[in-house]
Amino acid sequence: EEDTAPGVPPQQAADIGEVLVTADEIAERIAALAAKVDADYAGRELLLVGVLKGAVMVMADLSRALRTPLTMEFMAVSSYGSATSSSGVVRILKDLDRSIEGRDVLVVEDIIDSGLTLSWLLKNLRSRNPASLEVLALFRKPEAITVDVDVRYVGFDIPSAFVVGYGLDYGEHYRTLPFVGTLTPEAIARGPRP
Ligand code: XMP
Ligand code: MG
Repeated sequence: EEDTAPGVPPQQAADIGEVLVTADEIAERIAALAAKVDADYAGRELLLVGVLKGAVMVMADLSRALRTPLTMEFMAVSSYGSATSSSGVVRILKDLDRSIEGRDVLVVEDIIDSGLTLSWLLKNLRSRNPASLEVLALFRKPEAITVDVDVRYVGFDIPSAFVVGYGLDYGEHYRTLPFVGTLTPEAIARGPRP
């Protein structure tokens, strides 16, 4: 058995091409983003809306890094037709449990690729009349600039390659990796596996 870090099954370690963002870098960036959010929302109460499933790690770490009083809600939407390419078709798989009317809403996203999912989601949430609506995305790809979405808090701008780890999956696998990285061409060709 290979010796790997927690959250890194030995088989998955071999599938990683390049680590783009380390666990330490993620932790440091989330702390910095949390400080900004705390300053911006001073004296208010936040409603964090996490977009399942990719944003679970960001939600867990960001929410505990914040000092602002907050509650959490989750939404699940599907935007990908296949495992690695965007279809542009958005569907609500799980809606919010309660009203966001009059609330200060911060949408927590894992990654913005084409921006199509987010732009659709913001339009949908805006129609529910929150007091404010902002977005925090841990990762953003270059393609995102083509869509006119205003993302207030961005963790890292990364290259446009398909990435996994820290919540991001390839066919539901690789989410527990503590870092974010690319997959080897062989791993992509082989297809998702545990
Ligand atoms: P769009 O293109 O609508 O896509 O901005 C956003 C959603 O697509 C997923 N996504 C990824 N998931 N690795 C992943 O595991 C990636 O490189 C990647 N790029 C986009 C993700 O769910 C995001 O919310
Ligand atoms: Mg996914």
